[in-house]
Amino acid sequence: MIVVSTIEELRHARGGLASPLGLVPTMGYLHAGHLGLVRAARAQNPSVAATIFVNPTQFGPNEDLASYPRAPERDLRLLEEAGVDLVFTPSVEDIYPSGFSTFVDVGPIADRLEGKSRPGHFRGVATVVAKLFNLVQPQRAYFGQKDGQQCVVVKKLTHELGLPVDIVVVPTVREPDGLALSSRNVYLTPVERIAARVLSASLRGARAAFENGERGGEALRQLVQSQIEREPLAKPDYVSVADAATLEEVDRITRPVIVSLAVRIGRARLIDNEILG
Ligand code: PAJ
Repeated sequence: MIVVSTIEELRHARGGLASPLGLVPTMGYLHAGHLGLVRAARAQNPSVAATIFVNPTQFGPNEDLASYPRAPERDLRLLEEAGVDLVFTPSVEDIYPSGFSTFVDVGPIADRLEGKSRPGHFRGVATVVAKLFNLVQPQRAYFGQKDGQQCVVVKKLTHELGLPVDIVVVPTVREPDGLALSSRNVYLTPVERIAARVLSASLRGARAAFENGERGGEALRQLVQSQIEREPLAKPDYVSVADAATLEEVDRITRPVIVSLAVRIGRARLIDNEILG
């Protein structure tokens, strides 16, 4: 496995890799969810690259950029064991040279759900993803359904900017009790960790209601909201039942919807989602 941290080294190393190349962009502190993306990339491409970059432009001023968990040595070991060929670990200055002012704005879709709670988040995500695609030049890139809105944003920018990359969405990897794996789960105390089951449990509740014929968006929203409120340690940020393609809130479900939620538990802000229909 080749590890490079400058753009020049990256260009050189990329030239030696067979195409198609599958790319797995990450912010590090890797877990089995990230490694699921690597496995999918490994199965579909002769070469696989990963990036580790905690992207400052996708964090709000009061978010956890400074304390975002990091374990670079362990990450590299896991990527090597998973069969990655090339890892790019750029510095902030490489991605955002002095005076940087060119951003990718995907429009209103970035202002819904996570974007409403985290203004500017998807502008930062879209910008760094476009830049990483340009630098690494993959033919395919792998993203987790766990960050459902991020998948929609990345597909949209790739299509609309005409980037020659296929976006592959990989199912969410969960703990045995249903909690979606996340680097931010380390913020949970043992008691909060148990309380965090409420995210996936409430989504399972929504699926069960949908399978029993419920087609009302508001009814599903309230069902999920009330289940979260029954957990004293959980503070819901939003619950959404939205069109899976446009992310607009839905009244009657006639097409696939994404049920998404963000919940604060202690100092963690956790998200999860489920596609219905
Ligand atoms: P990060 O949170 O490190 O996640 C990297 C990738 O792993 C994302 O595509 C995310 O959806 C996926 N992932 C995280 N947890 C997962 C789980 N439990 N199951 C399946 N996939 C999971 O997402 C980012 O970084 C950044 O926004 C990034 C795309 C790298 C841009 O900075």
